[in-house]
Amino acid sequence: MKDKKHGGRPRLSPICNEMKLDFPSHSKNESFARAAAGAFIASLDPTASELSDIKCALSEAVTNCTVHAYPDKIGTIRLEIKLREDGTVILTVKDKGVGISDIAKAREPLFTTDAAGERSGMGFTVMEGFSDSIKISSKPGKGTTVTLTRKLSGKRTS
Ligand SMILES: Nc1ncnc2c1ncn2[C@@H]1O[C@H](COP(=O)(O)OP(=O)(O)OP(=O)(O)O)[C@@H](O)[C@H]1O
Ligand SMILES: [Mg+2]
Repeated sequence: MKDKKHGGRPRLSPICNEMKLDFPSHSKNESFARAAAGAFIASLDPTASELSDIKCALSEAVTNCTVHAYPDKIGTIRLEIKLREDGTVILTVKDKGVGISDIAKAREPLFTTDAAGERSGMGFTVMEGFSDSIKISSKPGKGTTVTLTRKLSGKRTS
């Protein structure tokens, strides 16, 4: 299909499938989220390397909810995945935790608020490396939403 302009922007490929999943922020649910995302994205026939990249980026986002968003309690993590017909995968990881006061700072490599010395401050850098784009929105006390987009390389039928 030709790239028609729509309001000055290229028209986005239609969404062909989508899912939502809410789960508690137990650390064991990080592997559950990876497996669920992998199974859902499989319909787009990703390469092993693409799937591994996407799962790795997702792990970082989900782990951040467990470790940082809900440091002293178990809260809800929402995972949303949308698939576009052109092979674009859009993952959204949402929490209602403590939020991030300075997003630009949080995105810097090696920046961490972890005082225990267990974190390396590389999660957002990994997410950036394994995605085509990353969007973070957050309000202190209200929560954080991270949206990761990755276009798969294979040829699509539509
Ligand atoms: N969902 C979140 N809620 C609240 N704060 C967050 C969230 N995600 C990230 N942050 C903040 O952003 C900082 C940077 O996150 P990043 O994932 O890059 O590093 P890290 O989690 O500290 O270390 P690593 O991911 O390497 O274990 C965190 O230290 C934390 O302060
Ligand atoms: Mg992290």
